[in-house]
Amino acid sequence: MPSLEFHRSRRSAFLDSIDGPVLLFAGGFLPRNYPANVHPFRADSSFLYFFDRPEPDAAALFDPAARTVTLFLHERTAADALWHGTTPPFEEELARHGVDAILPVEALKEHVLRLARGRRVRSLAVSDPKTTKLANEITGESRVFDSVGGLTDPALADALFALRSRKLPMELDEIRRAAAVTHEAHVRAIAATAPGGTEAALTAIVEGTFVHHGCTWAYPTILSVRGEVLHNNHHGNDLRSGDLVLLDAGAEAPSGYCADVTRTWPVSGRFDALQAEIYDIVLRAELAAIAKVRPGVRYRDLHLESARVIADGLVQMGLLRGSPDALVESGAHAIFFPHGVGHQLGLDVHDMEAFGDRLHYPAGRARSEQFGTCYLRMDRDLLPGMVFTIEPGIYFVPAILTDRALTERFAGQVDFVRALEIARKHGGRGFGGVRIEDDVSCAESGAEVLTSSIPKERVAVESLVGSARG
Ligand code: GLY
Ligand code: MN
Ligand code: MN
Repeated sequence: MPSLEFHRSRRSAFLDSIDGPVLLFAGGFLPRNYPANVHPFRADSSFLYFFDRPEPDAAALFDPAARTVTLFLHERTAADALWHGTTPPFEEELARHGVDAILPVEALKEHVLRLARGRRVRSLAVSDPKTTKLANEITGESRVFDSVGGLTDPALADALFALRSRKLPMELDEIRRAAAVTHEAHVRAIAATAPGGTEAALTAIVEGTFVHHGCTWAYPTILSVRGEVLHNNHHGNDLRSGDLVLLDAGAEAPSGYCADVTRTWPVSGRFDALQAEIYDIVLRAELAAIAKVRPGVRYRDLHLESARVIADGLVQMGLLRGSPDALVESGAHAIFFPHGVGHQLGLDVHDMEAFGDRLHYPAGRARSEQFGTCYLRMDRDLLPGMVFTIEPGIYFVPAILTDRALTERFAGQVDFVRALEIARKHGGRGFGGVRIEDDVSCAESGAEVLTSSIPKERVAVESLVGSARG
């Protein structure tokens, strides 16, 4: 777990980077239907960055002028102890967190207004609407939790983004911890695969492995023979010889840091010739992007490198026509690779995505309007310590291959007839999709692949399939 020293150093760096009081919130419980039936508590990541295992409804006032951090927690009551267990008294929490003071959150507004002494207090919206409403009441702001950057003002977003974008060794260790559990989950699922099994049984193995190690999932597990549905959380299919299983799953460690990994394998234990050809193109595309990682490289160039390798491979197969550069320029590659190559990773699986494109697409760089590349989640220059995913894929999506606008636009560059045959192969079950995703840290010398131990060479994957079934 990150140590007290880590959290103190992060809070000190944050105090250095703000010019007035900032009030951050952990957020509270989120109900899944009626109010008392709640999801497990998960603190907002910008709060979790500064505090070990925060309590629901905790808040913290950072005052750069006084160089103090005041933590606000619920008063300890017998009723809370009855329903949720006892919590340590404030004196103990003061020592555990190493803050300057702890005050009751029940009187938050009054304490914050007193401590602010007339200065403007900045805050940010969190996913819990009750907390965001309280933040807005206290600060007089009208922040909303959305994906276009309305959750925080630019100065505060810049300060948080600058800190959270460069992972320190302790954070890399936490991501490695999540990666080790994710490794076990993927390997166990691959080893348990056989015709006659089910997606649900493999999902139980993946998520059971996370729980076994005290982790949770970082995002709902994608495990499907319908891998062409990118965020497919349905686990209702059986597994048949000829199917490909696509597993996109990552553990979140108790500290909140996570992994995000995709592997694809054949139910039968042997890729057929077409699956092998596609698989090898995706692997080449992934390795080519990873090989380009260096500080200063533009993230979009990693995306374009993967896109070119995919275009080149599909030209060799006759599914695309033209030069790879021209195909990528026109966006024809996106018929088969219709998403971005990845995103930052850390306490959020799409790290800081809620801060909006102002931060992920800095000045002078706008999101592409082209189909496929418009889903690229960031276009920043890589920094040492930045952690991100590399996750190219090839999919045969009937809805794309029969879309009138796309088929007309790319008629000269794509063999739609053959592609649609592939999308409907295997008795109409279809090809599905192949994605390979790893978590990469940018070091001065290049990429460190934090999830490299999870098998992805085609032969290694094949020999693992079904190996737990004797
Ligand atoms: N697991 C979602 C993603 O890879 O972005
Ligand atoms: Mn993923
Ligand atoms: Mn990802």
